[in-house]
Amino acid sequence: MVRIALLGTGLIGRFYTESLHGKRSSDRVHVVYSRDSNRAADFAGQHNIPKTTTNIHEAVNDPDVDAVIIGLPNNLHEEAVLAAAAAGKAVLCTKPLGRNAAEALRMLQAVEAAGVFHGYLEDLVYTPKTLKALASVKSGAVGDVLWVRSRETHPGPHSDWFWDKEQSGGGAIVDMGCHCIEIARNFIGKDIRPVEVMCWADTLVHPIEAEDHAVGMVKYENGAIGQFEVSWAFRGGMDLRDEVAGTEGTIWLNHWLRTGMEMFSAGGQSGYVAEKAESNTGWLFPVGDEAVALGYVDMFADVLNAIEQQKAPLEDFYDGYIVNAIVDAAYASVSSRQWAPVDLPVWRGREGVPKIGAHREYDADHLLIKEEKMPDGTTKIILRHKQTGKISQRTA
Ligand SMILES: NC(=O)c1ccc[n+]([C@@H]2O[C@H](COP(=O)([O-])OP(=O)(O)OC[C@H]3O[C@@H](n4cnc5c(N)ncnc54)[C@H](O)[C@@H]3O)[C@@H](O)[C@H]2O)c1
Repeated sequence: MVRIALLGTGLIGRFYTESLHGKRSSDRVHVVYSRDSNRAADFAGQHNIPKTTTNIHEAVNDPDVDAVIIGLPNNLHEEAVLAAAAAGKAVLCTKPLGRNAAEALRMLQAVEAAGVFHGYLEDLVYTPKTLKALASVKSGAVGDVLWVRSRETHPGPHSDWFWDKEQSGGGAIVDMGCHCIEIARNFIGKDIRPVEVMCWADTLVHPIEAEDHAVGMVKYENGAIGQFEVSWAFRGGMDLRDEVAGTEGTIWLNHWLRTGMEMFSAGGQSGYVAEKAESNTGWLFPVGDEAVALGYVDMFADVLNAIEQQKAPLEDFYDGYIVNAIVDAAYASVSSRQWAPVDLPVWRGREGVPKIGAHREYDADHLLIKEEKMPDGTTKIILRHKQTGKISQRTA
């Protein structure tokens, strides 16, 4: 059993608490912090939480608390992490870790200096489908991963602070690109250095300074590409999709909207349908168990087990810092309209990883380029001569 101090009573605080208290779990939110005592009391009443406070330091220093979960706006993460680390408590922080890599690195250094457990709450690498796909990739099912495409688009966030660049650190890239970047990084290999980023971003719809659209490519040292696509103006709900292309296979993942549950209602379903759903009539895409589908349940199982077993979770502050560094490079590329290097003053992965080259031998003289069964029943074999480089074809 882990007893938790929860900082923040917004959308993510609610999702986290429902996931933590779900089913027969014994993990409990022990104290909840909110600026507003009424809001804290309401939240505590709804979720059966024994204590409330309007003071962050009181929450993190509560002697009955083992771990602190940070579910506050992005500009408040660093202060909360420093307070929890000073209190000597395990710290679990939502995404993005910082508004930029400098903040994220300071947070990583603070938890490491304090010697406290740290977890980066990147739920979307824990969705059941992603965990299954990652296991398949690790077992070699798709060969070398060449290209991962990850998309998160919805009609825009639900609170004022997201739209204010100063508080959030940016627009759709830092808010949602952070998920896509870490999903791709997991498939490509977290020990492979992200080298540079090319990114387009624009503010196409909303009267804000931050970007509401972006498409970016993150190039890794082995040549693999992690592509992210984000929008705060997509109509029709929340679109969460990933594609993994490998030398020996392909995986397509659909996490929301088209998950296999489709429902039509002429009269309308009253109330909430699914996160960011835009309508409650017509064709609807409800989700069987949102907390499970979004990865929160598996994420907390991993992170809280890791605290109890004193081992590292799947995602920690080092990962959050790498993601922030990639996001920073994406913003640099948007400004310069060039590939921008990923600046990593701290790198703990492999060095000098060679470029992916999955060449297949055909015979002593040739490499195989392609083999294809044709409509007439023959098989065409396209070859490259090893010495001369000449490309030829044979029919078998
Ligand atoms: N999938 C995910 O992992 C996911 C999803 C949503 C949000 N988030 C992250 O969670 C964090 C919070 O987002 P949210 O969606 O819950 O936002 P929200 O606006 O719904 O809730 C934010 C909470 O912080 C409180 N707050 C706002 N300003 C404050 C201040 N100055 N001092 C103290 N408290 C303040 C609000 O009252 C509210 O309780 C963000 O970092 C966001 O990126 C993660």
